[in-house]
Amino acid sequence: MIVRPARNVRGSISLPGDKSISHRYAMLAAIADGPSRLENYSTGADCASTLGCLRSLGVKWDRKNGDENVIEVQGSGLTLTAPSEPLDCGNSGSTIRMLSGIAAGQKFTTEMGGDESLSRRPMERIITPLTSMGARITSHDGRPPLRIVGGNIEAIHYKMPMASAQVKTCLLFAGLLADGETRIEEPLRTRDHGEVALRAFGAQLERNGNEVRIRGGQRLRGIEARVPGDLSSAAFFLCAAALFPNSQLTITHLLMNPTRARLLDILVQIGLRISVTQLEEIHGELVGTLQVEGGQLKGAVISGSDTAALIDEIPVLAAIAPYTEQGIEVRDAKELRVKESDRIRSIATNLAAMGAQVEELADGLKIPGGQSLHGAELESFDDHRIAMAFSIAALRAQGETLIRGSECAAISFPAFFSSLEALVER
Ligand code: S3P
Repeated sequence: MIVRPARNVRGSISLPGDKSISHRYAMLAAIADGPSRLENYSTGADCASTLGCLRSLGVKWDRKNGDENVIEVQGSGLTLTAPSEPLDCGNSGSTIRMLSGIAAGQKFTTEMGGDESLSRRPMERIITPLTSMGARITSHDGRPPLRIVGGNIEAIHYKMPMASAQVKTCLLFAGLLADGETRIEEPLRTRDHGEVALRAFGAQLERNGNEVRIRGGQRLRGIEARVPGDLSSAAFFLCAAALFPNSQLTITHLLMNPTRARLLDILVQIGLRISVTQLEEIHGELVGTLQVEGGQLKGAVISGSDTAALIDEIPVLAAIAPYTEQGIEVRDAKELRVKESDRIRSIATNLAAMGAQVEELADGLKIPGGQSLHGAELESFDDHRIAMAFSIAALRAQGETLIRGSECAAISFPAFFSSLEALVER
């Protein structure tokens, strides 16, 4: 993809369904009683991987005629069917980690793997607790492919060593299928879509501070839902708007869940003007319309619980950091090194290629402000968020930027480049 500089961002957009919620709704619809209808399901390849895996587990689902993004799922109840071949999770860490929780509770063996990037990603974070629940799991040195011998699992009390909503959700799903009451304590509050979705499907959960508890054996009932627009996809357009003082952008039906919306706080702190209207709660998820105007961009330090809450938005915040006045420093972000690519390295490499000064730290980045960048030939590192983040940096660079392998944007947002084109003015 070649991205040319722009002079402004203006317009209105509604985004495909949130990736985190789409995965969870599809998985819970699969093990619910009765049908579910999921509108505005994520268009990304990752959420299609989840649907593919569910089909291999005997779950019947269809895309509605005339609207590809409406998925109708026939719930199988808590018991799925033994797959006849390994499940293909593609590039999707969410699929393999969260579905492992369901596989652990099934009285059969499930094999799961994926592409080259997924095969490098750490899985001991789910293997350890699922094994203590009684699942027998083999892996390739803690990485995919996984072979899970499930069934007859027991509840656990587990203190998670890292902040990860995928792990928390995996264990809540396993807890639903286990004997007894599972308690999970997280070191920091991570996105709570797993809890919210479980409640939407009729399960009862208790939360006490950073601990969440679920009783095994609860039946779920199917739902009709419209998935809110993806806040992490919105981040690219919000950061594009941040680059131009006269920008005006409206995003309708956007996810506003407080455990995901730290991005909005940081953008306001940096200098965007944001107002929210039409706020409503749908199946426990906050949704609203966002109106955004550009301003003068200050800087920010992102660390601690902010880093965990913003983990998927850091690539694009880092990509616009050189254009801020004081720059952006990111700390406590070691997890970025084990995402779809080593995102700290990918960001530092691409910023440097555009002529930016940037310091790569073991757990983050220091990016001074007040810099001007030039167009360059960049790599996506086969990482959707890197491809999209640098197409935003390119909007304020001098000259054109070429992004190799930009088609990987389809992992979360196939229409990203055409949507961006529709909003930029040149
Ligand atoms: C996700 C949690 C985060 C995030 C990922 C989606 C989720 O991963 O980076 O894109 O839907 O729970 P971790 O659980 O590894 O932090």
